[in-house]
Amino acid sequence: MSVLVTGGAGYIGSHMVWELLDHNESVTVIDNLSTGFKWAIPEGVRFIEGDAGDMALVEKTISARKVDTIIHFAGSVVVPESVSDPLKYYENNTAKSRNLIAAAARMGVDQFIFSSTAAVYGEPATTGPIREDAILNPMSPYGSSKLMTEIMLRDAANAHDIRYVMLRYFNVAGADPKGRTGQSTTGATHLIKVACEAALGKRPSFQIFGTDYDTEDGSCVRDFIHVSDLVAAHQKALEFLREGGLKFTANCGYSRGYSVLEVLETVKRVSGNNFRVIESPRRPGDIPSLVANAHRLKSRVDWMPKYDDLDFIIQTALDWESRLVSNRKSA
Ligand code: UFG
Repeated sequence: MSVLVTGGAGYIGSHMVWELLDHNESVTVIDNLSTGFKWAIPEGVRFIEGDAGDMALVEKTISARKVDTIIHFAGSVVVPESVSDPLKYYENNTAKSRNLIAAAARMGVDQFIFSSTAAVYGEPATTGPIREDAILNPMSPYGSSKLMTEIMLRDAANAHDIRYVMLRYFNVAGADPKGRTGQSTTGATHLIKVACEAALGKRPSFQIFGTDYDTEDGSCVRDFIHVSDLVAAHQKALEFLREGGLKFTANCGYSRGYSVLEVLETVKRVSGNNFRVIESPRRPGDIPSLVANAHRLKSRVDWMPKYDDLDFIIQTALDWESRLVSNRKSA
């Protein structure tokens, strides 16, 4: 039996691949290398360069590799880009997921784990940590494209006896504490990655998008989860499905928010480097505050975060970024 990881050459996907290997799983990766890197895939993993939406390729892979579970990471993940190029998001996150789910249904793969996002909630109607039963009202095409896939998976699962877990990620950051993989994306847009690049002199300055939000210090607030805790939640989800579990949808976060300004201060302190911060206008699609209520995940699969510590998240991100600088693995 093999676990098929789509997007396994990317940031979160490559951490998942290591997590699965640490649990002695047989792993197959499909990745079109549009944003991932072949070198991020460990030895011993079967790599197929191709598209998660290519039904013929996925069906062939399922049969050749005896796939019993699909963990679906492949997709586009930049909120502002989704505002300027929405059809790219409906193609990569919705249409291709539809084909992947169809291939799973046709081939009888009945265990499916889907990377969803906190962006499905949009701007919460109430303050405080968001529960999974909150209103789903995405504010960006990115969030809509993922919500459409949630709905498709739910309906297809009912019709075709697929058991599934959908995990709604809050802000994923940091890198493997053992230094085996990290976020290598070129032209990164995510806060902690960009701030680490600025701290290490890879960028001349950092632009903060909006300091006039109705939050404590005027900058946006996010719930940052260490990528290793996130993939550990997927491992728990896999065990849940293997034990015959039916389905659930859960938030992945620590139930605690930090503002963009707090993150910048932490990056400066942990790195020991100062860098220029430029106050800029708000970015389209940004929500003022997004914090998870992570109770359901803990209660459904006994998930216990190990790295709930912003300093540690940032330290591991900096360690990886320094390695990229010395290895010139990314631009
Ligand atoms: N930010 C800056 N400057 C930057 C980069 C980011 O000020 O150079 C700010 C953003 O404006 C935002 C915050 O930092 O207020 C976080 O932005 P990110 O781009 O790091 O992340 P997002 O919150 O936009 O989106 C991320 C993931 C989504 C997920 C969402 C859930 O990309 O998949 O978190 O909170 F849905």
